[in-house]
Amino acid sequence: MKIFIEKNYEEMSKKAAEIFIDAIKEKPNIILGLATGSTPIGLYKELIRAHKEEGLDFSKVTSFNLDEYVGLSPDHPSSYGYYMREELFDHINIPKENAHVPNGKAENLEEYCKEYDEMIEKAGGIDIQLLGVGENGHIAFNEPDESLSIGTNIVKLTDNTIEVNSRFFDSIEEVPKTAISMGIGGILKAKKIVLLANGKKKAPVIKKLLNTDRVTTKFPVSFLLLHPDVTVIVDEEAYNG
Ligand code: F6R
Repeated sequence: MKIFIEKNYEEMSKKAAEIFIDAIKEKPNIILGLATGSTPIGLYKELIRAHKEEGLDFSKVTSFNLDEYVGLSPDHPSSYGYYMREELFDHINIPKENAHVPNGKAENLEEYCKEYDEMIEKAGGIDIQLLGVGENGHIAFNEPDESLSIGTNIVKLTDNTIEVNSRFFDSIEEVPKTAISMGIGGILKAKKIVLLANGKKKAPVIKKLLNTDRVTTKFPVSFLLLHPDVTVIVDEEAYNG
């Protein structure tokens, strides 16, 4: 596990952007795994800047997002589909049909989860997977539990996650209780993983991750210790608390 400690959120975002920009230049038809939440917004801003100012070309890029709330259509302002359009897709030249966010309104959700994994496989597998991490150690929506799913699956959100994510909704009652999430196995299949964390609130989870040599389903992010190519980029607050 490689770790970079950057001065602040802006520097963390720039460091992450360097990795993504270099990778896209090197492999224009790259397959990206993307995340939502507060953490990647600065990185997405840098990618948009590189597209607008330096002509970074996304025309051959394909992306797959980690997760989506069950029951929300991409038109819902709190959906991850909406977020991705607002924060990235609408500002770069990625073809619409290449930018995948799980369909929270799929009729047969179980079936759809399998199809999502098949789509990723057919595309050639994820080259770089971007991750944030929850305060409870979740990655994507793989919440601490007795066991974790290998493939894309429907997960029940914990009270903690519902509370933390209620900031993106008008009220906590509006936060869906379930989500579609890529599984731990799907995440570990990515050729390279980049995990970002910023701010004091993430310090306990980063400290725990950097000081353990054990994996446990009670701390999902610990599974990244099994992967041969993980880069963790944090700001000083997430590192020092
Ligand atoms: C989002 C996702 C989540 C977030 C995590 C951290 O697609 O998969 O695991 O990465 O909840 O969220 P923020 O960045 O808002 O602190």
